Amino acid sequence: MDIDQHYSHHADEAFLLQQLRQRYPDGPSSYQLAPLDQLHIGGIKASEKLLQQLQHDQPHRILEIGSGVGGLMRMLNAKTQIEVVGIDITHRFNRLNQAISALTSPPTSPQLITCDARQLPFADNHFDCIIFQHSLLNIPHTDVCLQECRRILSRHGSLLLHEVLQGPNPHSMRYPVPWASNAQQSHLLTFEAISALLQQHHFKLEQAENWSSEALQWRHRQQQKETSVKPPSTLSPANILGQSFSQMGANVITNLNTGAVEVWQLSCRGQTL
Ligand SMILES: C[S@@+](CC[C@H](N)C(=O)[O-])C[C@H]1O[C@@H](n2cnc3c(N)ncnc32)[C@H](O)[C@@H]1O
Repeated sequence: MDIDQHYSHHADEAFLLQQLRQRYPDGPSSYQLAPLDQLHIGGIKASEKLLQQLQHDQPHRILEIGSGVGGLMRMLNAKTQIEVVGIDITHRFNRLNQAISALTSPPTSPQLITCDARQLPFADNHFDCIIFQHSLLNIPHTDVCLQECRRILSRHGSLLLHEVLQGPNPHSMRYPVPWASNAQQSHLLTFEAISALLQQHHFKLEQAENWSSEALQWRHRQQQKETSVKPPSTLSPANILGQSFSQMGANVITNLNTGAVEVWQLSCRGQTL
């Protein structure tokens, strides 16, 4: 199964949009959308943390790679006067991102392109910031992707990653997880491997934070919420990722506990060649 199929064959868009219109006639807020559009470990709090990082740099043109259903993009558009572009390989997510953005108050129309992160349709030096939030984890041939990032990023532009990395105990990995039905769809690197690749592509790693223990606590809290309210009265990642989401969420907890995976935030800067 291709990665776009992992993500696109579950969501019932029409049902979801109807639910959102009914529940939030004045337009859903970022917090109300979070169970649907923050498809990463750590939810909206993790996105807020990522955005804090931008306050230092004040970029003008940001590319989000693997923008999914658009949670981070909408937060970026709401808070700043910057140009934000999202790319995603799953066309259905781009359509849903656009449709959800049209429901918010005020409605927005995000700039979205359906393409593969290993072949980016932008000119050299076009962006001054690139963000990956739980998307590098799906991308094979990370070196090709980073080479493309280096090409389209300005000389001292920043690269921010909020990613799942391979932990010290990869053999205990359990599937499905929210980003992969099986091992062929998951492309996790160790911290050492990603650090070496970043250096090789002329990115200086300025900050690295392992927040796996916070991520574990967060997932436990989410699991309690998801099981305490009876479906279908609640919106949850299952509306996007399908009914096996409860198993995916449980496996995230197991994988963090056994050290199969870790959650990191990395902040990098382009270096002069
Ligand atoms: C786990 S989801 C995260 C979505 C979003 N960043 C978020 O945190 O809510 C991973 C996203 O990466 C996208 N993706 C996977 N491989 C990709 C590729 N090669 N090029 C572009 N997008 C890709 C998927 O379609 C999906 O939307």
